[in-house]
Amino acid sequence: MPITFDATSRTFHLRNEQVSYLLRVLENGTLGHLFFGGSLVEAGSYGRLSGGEFLGYSNRAAAPVPHEYPTSGIGDYRVPALVATQPDGSTALDLRYVSHRVFAGKPAIANLPSTYVQGYGEADTLEILMLDTPASLEVRLFFSIYSDRPVVTRSARLRNVGEVPLTVECAMSATLDLPDSEWELVQLSGAWARECQVRTRHLEAGSQSIGSVRGASGYQHNPLLILKRASTSEENGEAYGLSLVYSGNFLAEAEVDVYNTTRLRIGVNPEGFSWTLDPSAEFCTPEAVLVYSEAGLGALSDAFHGLYRDRLARGVWREAPRPIVINNWEATYYDFDEARLLEIATAAQGLGIEMFVLDDGWFGRRDGDNTSLGDWTANKAKLPGGIEGLARQIEALGLRFGIWIEPEMVSQRSQLYADHADWVVGVPKRPNTESRNQLVLDMSRREVVDHLFGVLSDLLGRAPISYVKWDMNRNITEPFSPSLPAHRQGEFFHRYILGTYELYERLTRAFPQVLFESCASGGGRFDPGMLFFAPQAWTSDDTDAIERLKIQWGTSLCYPLSSMAAHVSAVPNHQTGRVTPIATRAAVAFFGVLGYELDPVALSDEDREAVADQIAYYKARRELFQRGRLVRLRSPFEGDGNETAWMTMSADSSRAVVGHYRVLNQPNRGPSRLRLRGLDAKASYRVSVWPAGKDPVSTANSGIRGGDELMRVGLLVASENPVDSRRVGDFTARLFDLEAQEPAGGHA
Ligand code: GLA
Repeated sequence: MPITFDATSRTFHLRNEQVSYLLRVLENGTLGHLFFGGSLVEAGSYGRLSGGEFLGYSNRAAAPVPHEYPTSGIGDYRVPALVATQPDGSTALDLRYVSHRVFAGKPAIANLPSTYVQGYGEADTLEILMLDTPASLEVRLFFSIYSDRPVVTRSARLRNVGEVPLTVECAMSATLDLPDSEWELVQLSGAWARECQVRTRHLEAGSQSIGSVRGASGYQHNPLLILKRASTSEENGEAYGLSLVYSGNFLAEAEVDVYNTTRLRIGVNPEGFSWTLDPSAEFCTPEAVLVYSEAGLGALSDAFHGLYRDRLARGVWREAPRPIVINNWEATYYDFDEARLLEIATAAQGLGIEMFVLDDGWFGRRDGDNTSLGDWTANKAKLPGGIEGLARQIEALGLRFGIWIEPEMVSQRSQLYADHADWVVGVPKRPNTESRNQLVLDMSRREVVDHLFGVLSDLLGRAPISYVKWDMNRNITEPFSPSLPAHRQGEFFHRYILGTYELYERLTRAFPQVLFESCASGGGRFDPGMLFFAPQAWTSDDTDAIERLKIQWGTSLCYPLSSMAAHVSAVPNHQTGRVTPIATRAAVAFFGVLGYELDPVALSDEDREAVADQIAYYKARRELFQRGRLVRLRSPFEGDGNETAWMTMSADSSRAVVGHYRVLNQPNRGPSRLRLRGLDAKASYRVSVWPAGKDPVSTANSGIRGGDELMRVGLLVASENPVDSRRVGDFTARLFDLEAQEPAGGHA
């Protein structure tokens, strides 16, 4: 059992080969945090873990140990985990230990997504019951440790055991105290079409935070906070990652206090939040996932990837090879009819594509973005046979059929709005702010969720639909639900997400064979909460290969290849106007779930051949590209950002594909090497280069190479030949395919 309790010192130790998490019930009954980091021996001298670092409480604490779930008003002046206003208006809370239990497995969290276990022994859980007697507030803290992952998950469940309501103002999923502040904070920040840009800053005195108050996790900041040492690289050094399994307003914060200790906290954003806890009622926080790595950011990402790919994503699509799609959005936008779609599908089928996805514009009178959201019946002028008729014809071509929907939204010009204007999020007597000409449905209301389930299950039930792209294209303004009393309006944002999760849960349960892809104008809600329902997400509306290098690199800090949908689109690119070679576009989109978002009918003969070749290449390596271990080699966020390189490899290191990308060509730059990682040093690999050519780089690398040589010397990624350099041009990419040779051993 990886969780032990030392009754004498009342110390809990959650431990596996990679991490230890220690906490102790202090003499006065408060719960102290001792340590989270690399694995400590089981019966170590826990006594010395506490002491010295924390100087907050005056005479209240038995030892100078930070609290595991700190409250406000009792001498710890740093940011709290829990704030609740009591009937007299006071907010001080002082939680004391009541009892604990340790059990095998990992409990689900009511109505919220969370990581899970599948087999016996995968994880164990420590549940600690705490109580604040004057407030009659019970807090159950859950700590789960996976037996073979450097991961501890946390959540809290609050319960009012008194007779009067309490108001929860802040309930974090986790806080984590670290004894120093020599850390860099890494965050994924961005904007529409520029998601997940890696930003790094040194921790400073005071608080530094990222978060969202938009009603969705948002592309401004991903709900992920990483701390690393200045010296930590992809392969070496310490790093902590805190990730929140939640899709709504979040806060992730680091506070450095006067003694240069660091407190991290992550959870539902207290800004705009309050929750009335009636007698006997409970409130569950979302799950926080805490990862620790001693082997750099690469190992940190490995842990997140494995957990989110295999124990957060669910259903048949968790492991099933994801189909290569053609999406008609950038090919047609709203301007299509059935004949045009069938023409696209036919051409796509000829290239080896497996699924046709019909994007926006198929319903109501939707010929632009200002109408018909909410009216989820086919536009018969465009699709005379309806969705059913189109889907059957697509299937007859040998493709599967997928569809775009945006369930949470409504257009003012729609039948749904005419019938149910009162279902819209908004404050009575205030004008509603429109964004993208649309309004948001009040997902906190049961009748709205029920209605959407009825309409969408009818759609999915009638036509052979194998895939759903679930979009969400605007954030929430005028947050208010007329269905909630005034004192509960602070619950609106969280209830909205709970309603969205409920709809997702009901639809994914009713249609287990359907592959769901989440989307929010690209990566505007790309978070672990969504991955629980939709195992892949549309990474960004920006399909430019060069922009995608940064977006996919950043996203990969936390999210696995299997979660990142990546499409090859036409040039000039619709977001940047950039013209990149079609091989480069493919070589970037391969690292994820590949699709095409262009008009295959309009391809030149040369490009058509290239696309067919790309699809065959991808299919032959689909497992590697979708489920391989991603190793980041050269960052677009470092140096001049001109080069990016990464590789994906099989678990046994016998297969790998390396991607190397150069933005601008530079004349006479001399030879350059790219050292690989993670290979079997003793194995020989057959290296082949894609696209195949007779240039010096291809010739120099192709053939049998030792794993040792590939890691210690590297692939040649630029030749010294200036003539060759002139031919190369800008925006280039090369893939190196590595296959270990049998028997392992000597190499040329
Ligand atoms: C969003 C999505 C796009 C496309 C459009 C359709 O922007 O991110 O991929 O589906 O909506 O309106």
